[in-house]
Amino acid sequence: MEELNVCVLLLMVGLCAPEEAWQVYSSAQDSVGRCVCTVVTPQHNVCSRDGRTNQLLQLLDKVGNMSRSLLLLEQRTHRDLQLVERMEEQLRGAEQRFRQVEDGQHSATARQYKAMKSKMEELRPLVPLLESFRAEAVLVQSFKEELNNLSLLLGELQHSLGGLEQQQLHSRVLHLEERLRSCMQRLACGKLTGISEPITIKTSGSRFGSWMTDPLAPPTDTRVWYMDGYHNNRFVREYASMWDFMSSDNYTSVRLPHPWSGTGQVVYNGSLYFNKFQSHTLIRFDLRSSLILRSRQLDFAGYNNMYHYSWGGHSDIDLMVDEGGLWAVYATHQNAGNIVLSQLNPDTLQVIRSWMTNHPKRSAGEAFMICGTLYVTNGYSGGTKVYYAFSTNSSTYEYIDLPISNKYSHLSMLDYNPRDRALYAWNNGHQVLYNVTLYHIIQ
Ligand SMILES: *[C@@H]1O[C@H](CO)[C@@H](O)[C@H](O)[C@H]1NC(C)=O
Ligand SMILES: *[C@@H]1O[C@H](CO)[C@@H](O)[C@H](O)[C@H]1NC(C)=O
Ligand SMILES: *[C@@H]1O[C@H](CO)[C@@H](O)[C@H](O)[C@H]1NC(C)=O
Ligand SMILES: *[C@@H]1O[C@H](CO)[C@@H](O)[C@H](O)[C@H]1NC(C)=O
Ligand SMILES: *[C@@H]1O[C@H](CO)[C@@H](O)[C@H](O)[C@H]1NC(C)=O
Ligand SMILES: *[C@@H]1O[C@H](CO)[C@@H](O)[C@H](O)[C@H]1NC(C)=O
Repeated sequence: MEELNVCVLLLMVGLCAPEEAWQVYSSAQDSVGRCVCTVVTPQHNVCSRDGRTNQLLQLLDKVGNMSRSLLLLEQRTHRDLQLVERMEEQLRGAEQRFRQVEDGQHSATARQYKAMKSKMEELRPLVPLLESFRAEAVLVQSFKEELNNLSLLLGELQHSLGGLEQQQLHSRVLHLEERLRSCMQRLACGKLTGISEPITIKTSGSRFGSWMTDPLAPPTDTRVWYMDGYHNNRFVREYASMWDFMSSDNYTSVRLPHPWSGTGQVVYNGSLYFNKFQSHTLIRFDLRSSLILRSRQLDFAGYNNMYHYSWGGHSDIDLMVDEGGLWAVYATHQNAGNIVLSQLNPDTLQVIRSWMTNHPKRSAGEAFMICGTLYVTNGYSGGTKVYYAFSTNSSTYEYIDLPISNKYSHLSMLDYNPRDRALYAWNNGHQVLYNVTLYHIIQ
């Protein structure tokens, strides 16, 4: 099984006048043809009647392309399925031999026994992945059916222009787009299996701080927010772009109505979310209007250095974002100082759902979420690794061992950005980025 670092690219091709364009979304595929999703969608204002015939022809063309893309995906699904089946076979075979060795039917040397056992251990984690894999195959089938339906619909439309309401087509296409978007999201998701060497973007500020970009901003918006220190500061720097951030000290300052606590802030969909100093109040601050849109207490959350990360710094409440939305990591007395993970409604800051973990917050270095799984590091200085993973999907945890290069020896912030598929870190007055490798079965 290979590890994949799938990069999903969004292409947009406008075909009619910009304000009434149809768009093609397409995910990138690499040389082996993995990860293929394409979709046709009208923009919100539907194209004018005059250009309709022409647009329909183009649409049909695109549907044709989409079919080819799905075919590729299906072939890949098929190929992977066979791979998985072979693996199942291997696993069964290994299991059997293991039992034979145990039963003493073969001359069982201790060495053989040990080798067999480690082989088994290697294969075992693959078993639970099989089910999700099968689900993907069903998904592809359903896409194909929908695509066929859409093709038929478009064919009809072509024959009897005006017979079908544009609105109806519009909503069908939007529905398909939604399905494919969620497909793309899922294809992009996976289990963390590797963290690259860091790239130092900038050297600036004190030992502690945070910096980020908005994962929901369009790809062209790479504004950087920068928050130096963990308390007693309420000035956020806004850099116009990642390039500006790297190459200059040209920024504008935003003054927050309250100082922040810790380094767990996050910018999400145009708002800065932060923990008000010396409280367990969460604040949603709109960066456009500079107004507080919402403020709410995170019930039972420890604060004021009660349940900080191991580096201290009032890091009691850590806010973060992944593919699934906004999360808060904190600890409560009720959970004996162990990490509690809550999914938050980004509009209202209400807790949607919480998970209690068995990991003490104070012995965690930092934590970040990827694809609904919480990853925790073992410390902030010296040789650092990600060693604990809690899946919200299954409410189970496992110990893992993924080294993370701690280049400047003091990590006070570590957060995943699902748009860049990168980890943002503040390492002893250096702002660094890591790429992540996510493991998927199909794609
Ligand atoms: C469909 O695919 C062909 C070949 O890859 C390409 O030339 C054509 O522009 C595509 N059509 C659309 C509408 O994307
Ligand atoms: C496709 O159309 C058929 C017949 O109208 C319908 O039964 C089926 O549910 C549709 N499939 C999808 C995935 O929409
Ligand atoms: C600083 O940024 C502003 C807008 O963000 C821009 O207009 C100005 O040219 C920049 N100055 C320098 C020296 O880069
Ligand atoms: C982002 O904000 C816009 C309004 O500014 C809203 O329509 C959209 O639903 C938000 N997206 C998410 C994922 O919250
Ligand atoms: C989580 O579980 C749901 C339902 O059991 C499944 O559809 C989804 O693919 C799972 N997601 C991940 C990341 O495992
Ligand atoms: C991450 O990968 C991209 C694409 O390969 C590359 O351009 C970028 O420099 C990498 N970033 C890091 C931090 O390694």
